[in-house]
Amino acid sequence: MKFAAIDQGTTSTRVLVTDETGAARIHHAARHAQHHPRPGWVEHDPRELLAHVRDCLTAAGRVEALGIAHQGESCLAWDSITGVPLSPVIVWQDNRTSEHIAHLAADGAGDEVAARAGLPLDPYFSATKLAWLIDNIPEAKAARRAGRLRLGTTDAFFLDRLTGSFATDISTASRTSLMNLETGCWDAALCDLFHVPIECLPEIRPTVGDFGLAGSSPLKASIVDQQAALFGHGCRRDGDVKITFGTGAFALALTGERIVRSAGDGLVPTVAWQWAGTRTYAVDGGVYDAGAAVEWAQRIGIVTDVAELNTFAALPAIDRGLTFVPALSGLACPHWDRSAASLFIGMTADTTRVDLCQALLEGIALQTCEMIEAIDRHVPLSDRLPIDGGLARSGYFAQFLADTLGRTIVVAGFDELTAFGTAALAARAIGKDLPRPKADHDRLFHPRQARRAERRARFAEAVSRSRCWRGAAIGPCRSL
Ligand code: G3P
Repeated sequence: MKFAAIDQGTTSTRVLVTDETGAARIHHAARHAQHHPRPGWVEHDPRELLAHVRDCLTAAGRVEALGIAHQGESCLAWDSITGVPLSPVIVWQDNRTSEHIAHLAADGAGDEVAARAGLPLDPYFSATKLAWLIDNIPEAKAARRAGRLRLGTTDAFFLDRLTGSFATDISTASRTSLMNLETGCWDAALCDLFHVPIECLPEIRPTVGDFGLAGSSPLKASIVDQQAALFGHGCRRDGDVKITFGTGAFALALTGERIVRSAGDGLVPTVAWQWAGTRTYAVDGGVYDAGAAVEWAQRIGIVTDVAELNTFAALPAIDRGLTFVPALSGLACPHWDRSAASLFIGMTADTTRVDLCQALLEGIALQTCEMIEAIDRHVPLSDRLPIDGGLARSGYFAQFLADTLGRTIVVAGFDELTAFGTAALAARAIGKDLPRPKADHDRLFHPRQARRAERRARFAEAVSRSRCWRGAAIGPCRSL
């Protein structure tokens, strides 16, 4: 039996085909264009994404069960009759709605949103983006007047176009700020607050189920990519955690039936998945810029060859007083401050380009440590932390993370865990339990002696200096 999963991510779309013996491989992958029409805006072309998803379907051929993972909060508008997109995809990183968020915060809406949706007020989540589409895209306004407007995250667009089901799964709906986290239904009060017409939203369904036929294959699972990776890592019990280093860095820990509300620590309760009547929650901590910070550093010539990010001859930069705060898109967990800006601090006349590379990697790791410590205060985590994604390939990064956290870091030998988790969920729908794909062994990085407290204190000081920098343009400084 063959199973497949399409991973439609922020930078690429890929398809993994696997079978019951664990022989898994990527059959097709394609990158898509990133559009930045204005500072802080990030868009994708929905036609290009859909074409890449279709190419993946073709490359996979007919399978017994298919799953699809997607970017989470990225969203768009389209026409219910023709299926034609009426807007670009506004990507999760986009902060065009910062002012709207600042107004909602000033009006005191934060508590109600946190109580109902479980989420902080931030442009990252879909609600203000969906409202922006109706307010600013004349075609979307006209479609609404004609009763033809569909609004949704990218999964709902793909499902509609591929299978004819106008649906989203509950893990995705939990990332919009429009779903009530306890009932698992669209919340009329939240839709009113954000000015999103509830009748234009897709039906919320369990993560695993019957979504219809996509090409010749039954689509059996649809899920946010981070939740898919959590499943792919084999996380099943409360406290199981993973960190994926993609465009951003996202840590998720399972909390079972418990919704962890942790206002002070800036964590986000979310739905991990739901099937067979059982809903499982997780707590989520996100760092906006991980791979995105490395790509930026490549673009401007700080990183000239990614191979040089594997080892550094010098002592850790933070121990030498040099650090980097990755806040190119502001700060997410645990600070939730879009007015923060990136900084390097501690440069002296003898600081080299390589020192900056080292500080850059360490800054991403140090921000990850803040997030893991916040999660650990609410969900006791095990001493072994599995990680995956691009940065996990850097031995220096993984060792620095282990040393600074004081925990063993496990780098997955098989790297396509988002796609594998999605395929495994789809297989569950037809009663199959997929084995972990055959691959090289996991690599373990054990913690060594390190000046942990000093590193964290110094980094915390740098973070505090990075905040409120963009205050005039973005609005008042906030924290959750
Ligand atoms: O919340 C956004 C996140 O799910 C995107 O992940 O892997 O597409 O960068 P990725």
